[in-house]
Amino acid sequence: MDKLLIRGGRQLQGEVYISGAKNAALPELCACLLTAEPVILSNLPRLQDVNTMLKLIRNMGVDVQHQAGAGRDGRVTVNAGSLTTPEAPYELVKTMRASVLALGPLLARFGHARVSLPGGCAIGSRPVDQHIKGLTAMGAEIVVEHGYMIAKLPQGWTRLKGARIATDMVTVTGTENFLMAACLAEGETILENAAQEPEIPDLAEMLIKMGAKIEGHGTSRIRIQGVEKLKGCEHQVVADRIETGTFLCAVAATGGDVLLRHGRVEHLEAVVEKLREAGATVTEVADGIHVQSQGRLKAQSFRTTEYPGFPTDMQAQFMALNSISHGTAKVTETIFENRFMHVNEMVRLGANIQIDGKVALVEGVEKLSGATVMATDLRASASLVIAGLVAEGETLIDRIYHLDRGYDQMETKLRGLGADIERVK
Ligand code: EPZ
Repeated sequence: MDKLLIRGGRQLQGEVYISGAKNAALPELCACLLTAEPVILSNLPRLQDVNTMLKLIRNMGVDVQHQAGAGRDGRVTVNAGSLTTPEAPYELVKTMRASVLALGPLLARFGHARVSLPGGCAIGSRPVDQHIKGLTAMGAEIVVEHGYMIAKLPQGWTRLKGARIATDMVTVTGTENFLMAACLAEGETILENAAQEPEIPDLAEMLIKMGAKIEGHGTSRIRIQGVEKLKGCEHQVVADRIETGTFLCAVAATGGDVLLRHGRVEHLEAVVEKLREAGATVTEVADGIHVQSQGRLKAQSFRTTEYPGFPTDMQAQFMALNSISHGTAKVTETIFENRFMHVNEMVRLGANIQIDGKVALVEGVEKLSGATVMATDLRASASLVIAGLVAEGETLIDRIYHLDRGYDQMETKLRGLGADIERVK
């Protein structure tokens, strides 16, 4: 099992390329299932979750030509004209909850699908009841048995029917499932409390290139007019705002001066605002973000909420920054029930953090000291990397397969900025 060995204390200097967004690439690979024509996705990030999704759609009989190049050279040509098995088996789904995104497209195009329930994961139970509620509203008959969702259309139906869908809470992949299914449904679909994360407008723009009729994407109300068929297209995956935010927090913590190519401030306003209040200098430049920081910053309280609020996927990373800042910060996690698992590991590095239910109270300390720690989930891993970059001495992070699910060559990019970090077996 790979580990990351970090010797802390180095500032970060230079330029780094932000990869395509994991949380856009995954639904966009599923959107390829909506057409029998070839789709080319470029700027595909080199991630374990992307490899899992490619395996999942190949498993359905889809033709996938993958070139795992760096940055925008990373591309895939997907041709779902050869799809024979509209299924997502447990062996693949259990490692990646986002496999549930195959349900909407398979049901919309083939009228039936068999998708394993995702099961829980480290950060929470991650139910899919809202996905089932919305697709049922479009006419799907979905039964859950032996750990699988078995979905089909009613007798005599050839397509889903447009519906008005209002979920009990904002759900990102739920919105994406409904958006994809509605493109081929008969009539109009209205998504009332749709998610507004930037990956959703990016998915919608791809679907529109395929011939879909969508408006309101990026707002909480999306309207879709169903069409009979969708065609192939070429689409470049939007830059990853969470990778961008992770690097911004790393530079803010270590001090330094870095240019993040392809990063977009407008996709990360809530985080950039907090970094500026903390004392970092964050400037938008042509096709990138310039971040500079020196000395100890001021701790920032925040609470995670749906976009455009402070993203839950940035909570652990900003907590690492708070742990070595001046003052005390109150961090409130409102989205997931168990997303403080990085805290115990940070305390091993010398952080002073008290958890009380959904709130973590972070008392900034002068310095952290290196230790052996264990990654527990994707964003927790990133927060331990940031903590290791500033801790005195050596930090060894175990179970970094969690990190590899969602970060493209993290240690290579950090080494390119001057960090003393290496992957060890
Ligand atoms: C997406 O997960 C992201 N994953 C997550 O990123 C991200 O943390 C999350 O959105 C919130 O922003 C992808 O896009 C692949 P939700 P998703 O449905 O869609 C509850 C990462 O680190 N809920 O928006 O699964 C749910 O339990 C990952 O990249 C239901 O109760 O999240 C949660 O409390 C982690 N029933 C809340 O809603 C449902 O049917 C928001 O979940 C669906 C969701």
